[in-house]
Amino acid sequence: MGSKTENVLTMDTLNPNVIEPQYAVRGPVVTRATELENEIKAGLKKPFAQVVKANIGDCHATGQKPITYIRQVLALCTYPELLKSNEFPEDAKSHAKRILDGCLGQSIGSYPESCGLMVVREDVANYIAERDGYPADAKDIVLCTGASDGIKAVMTLLLTAKGGTDSAGFMIPIPQYPLYSAAISEFGAYPIPYYLNEKNKWALDVSELERAIAEAKPNCKPRAIVVINPGNPTGSVLTKENIKDVIKFAHRHKLFIMADEVYQHNIWAEGAEFVSFKKVLQEMGAPYNKMELASFMSASKGFMGECGYRGGYAEVINLHPEVRAHFVKFASVNLCAPVSGQAVIDCIVNPPKPGGPSYDTYIKEKNDVLAKLKEKAEFVTELFNSIEGIACNEVMGAMYAFPRIYLPEKAIEAAKAAGQTPDSFYCFALLEETGICTVPGSGFRQEPGTFHFRITILPQMDELKAVLDKFKDFHLGFLAKYKGWTEESVSIAIIIMIIILLLLILPLLLLVIIIIIIIIIILVVVAAAAAAVVVVVVVVVVVVVVVVVVVEVILLLLLFLS
Ligand SMILES: Cc1ncc(COP(=O)(O)O)c(C=O)c1O
Repeated sequence: MGSKTENVLTMDTLNPNVIEPQYAVRGPVVTRATELENEIKAGLKKPFAQVVKANIGDCHATGQKPITYIRQVLALCTYPELLKSNEFPEDAKSHAKRILDGCLGQSIGSYPESCGLMVVREDVANYIAERDGYPADAKDIVLCTGASDGIKAVMTLLLTAKGGTDSAGFMIPIPQYPLYSAAISEFGAYPIPYYLNEKNKWALDVSELERAIAEAKPNCKPRAIVVINPGNPTGSVLTKENIKDVIKFAHRHKLFIMADEVYQHNIWAEGAEFVSFKKVLQEMGAPYNKMELASFMSASKGFMGECGYRGGYAEVINLHPEVRAHFVKFASVNLCAPVSGQAVIDCIVNPPKPGGPSYDTYIKEKNDVLAKLKEKAEFVTELFNSIEGIACNEVMGAMYAFPRIYLPEKAIEAAKAAGQTPDSFYCFALLEETGICTVPGSGFRQEPGTFHFRITILPQMDELKAVLDKFKDFHLGFLAKYKGWTEESVSIAIIIMIIILLLLILPLLLLVIIIIIIIIIILVVVAAAAAAVVVVVVVVVVVVVVVVVVVEVILLLLLFLS
């Protein structure tokens, strides 16, 4: 046996579609944050006592308490012996029994149907019907391993299995949740970025959609449009009118609609409301209500924040029956989503009923979480907008603020010198100085020349206030540090000084020349020289004056331009 092992997988042989994707939410800034945590544990002195991970929408990790009812039902499903205990309320017990009855062998350890437990899918359909006022069919519901899995499963259906100009194009918002760009890279599909309008609360402009698709059509086969509502990272909430426009656009261009609606419970702004794409599609009637639409929901967000259980569902409507059969077959290959996650979903869509023993606590816990998030959304928006060099659209929904930072030229140059994007440079400096871990805007993509960062509103209010106090000091210090002279501004200043100097010197020079000429004239006249000499001297004077005036005008123009 040779001593050297030749790896089958090296950077040359590794699937390039795995190398390309970036997932900034857990990117290099976060890696450094974890290193800093370890350094603090090892006793190294830092300017802060602890790292605050405000990079990821992980509610429980930042201190949010689980909803009691969900955990009770899960406990009962996991260890049915507890059904005999008096410690659990009757409604949680009957809920758990109902789920267990839907499982083969009455155990959540058995495989369910590949699209998920029918009992849960029926509850999801009832929840959607009640939410939208239009019927929903359990057959259209697929329970998945978090919304991420459902999103990728639907994207898989839309791939063309061809490359180059035949590859499938997915319209994705910019800024976007990086799952989409990562999945597009993984699948070898074609991203069609469309920019959200930061100047108008991150709204979605149809003219921008038209621009994006027209540019992409020669390069790919556009198949779907992704809309994230409420928005991550933008915190925007779309109006019904905006949703209608998107649906009409998708219909015009024969696009499948992928509506990422995982933040549907997280609405904060006065007057804003969550309206599902499905509801608007139904309201619009024919031909729109026949369009293919997938809507995604998750157990990870909302008031429950049960990220680790990996619960999610997709409602996929108007699929061609043969396509649906292949979709189900495909789901079967992956066997199923975790049944514990399905049980979490069931508690969300089928909560305790009024009058039941768990109802009051459930409503109180749910409302408490949502009220605190609303308070933090308002606080964060106001605070960011009160700081010089920052502009932040209102956090209308979801769990993040995405403020724009106006960075001094010198900071941009320093970032370039460090081989980083300016927003990464800023986020790294913020982390090293304060321990606050955020995500650079470039991880979500952003309009060229603009810089942002994303911060979650999840830390508890006291901690959030302390964090943002530190942030403010850091930001103002950062601006002061980099507001000085840059190489470019020094060169411009030197040019300006030379021009001003010339502007002042040239008239003096002119004066001296004129005096010399006058002296010559006097000498010539006194010496009774020929008139021709006088004429020559006068012409020389005129030429010199004209040249000086022209040069002065040019210098003035240069001064104005620089
Ligand atoms: C917009 C959006 N979609 C999907 C997901 C994925 O959620 P899940 O944990 O259900 O996979 C997230 C997670 O942060 C998200 O923000």
